[in-house]
Amino acid sequence: MPQRRVRSRDEQRLLEKAKRYLPGGTLGNTRFADDVAFVVKAGQGSKVVDMSGNEYIDYLLGSGPMILGHAHPAVVTAVREYLERGSTYFTLNEPAIHLAETICQAVPCAEKIRFCSTGSEATFFALRAARTFTKKDKILKFEGGYHGSHDYALMSSSPSVPKDFPQAVPDSAGIPRVLEDQEDHERHYRTASSRARRRDRRTLPAHHHAAPGLPARLT
Ligand SMILES: Cc1ncc(COP(=O)(O)O)c(C=O)c1O
Repeated sequence: MPQRRVRSRDEQRLLEKAKRYLPGGTLGNTRFADDVAFVVKAGQGSKVVDMSGNEYIDYLLGSGPMILGHAHPAVVTAVREYLERGSTYFTLNEPAIHLAETICQAVPCAEKIRFCSTGSEATFFALRAARTFTKKDKILKFEGGYHGSHDYALMSSSPSVPKDFPQAVPDSAGIPRVLEDQEDHERHYRTASSRARRRDRRTLPAHHHAAPGLPARLT
């Protein structure tokens, strides 16, 4: 493994600015320890490079959407071409309709598409649609599963002190207490063998992005 380069002054300054101007010094909930934190300068294919010239294999891939890697030539060409026609219109437009059609044709269970900017929006709308369909308010969520940062999703993702089942534990301050009664939680590792649980306890990383859907209590 190549030796990690010493953090440059520019990168150090940017990390300090990040702490000053971004909540938690991050863009979301992915945070690295101070001694290994870095600032990405650019990405190409499967790699990203930081401000000090260190190269990383990018397993995060933008938390999903960079499935073709960074700066894929076909994507860059298409984005460049469309940017010249404007970027967002809020109203119906040709590419959005074509994309909805393409997704419906590609995904057997997809009948209609609602485009969302984030996964949090998607799960928030999905919960509302499910409540409308079932005419029930309560939802069941697996402890340790991460489904976004809205109030209903940010429950029992990584409870430091789990309550008795099926009581949900808010993962953040500011979540209305009334929601704790609107969610039941299940530990899906109940079905796993005790050997697998012991193995998980040794190997699970501490972050849900690295281990989506795994029981946070074991981390
Ligand atoms: C299963 C699942 N649902 C929802 C989300 C939330 O997505 P976003 O971070 O775009 O709000 C994530 C993000 O990692 C996810 O893995």
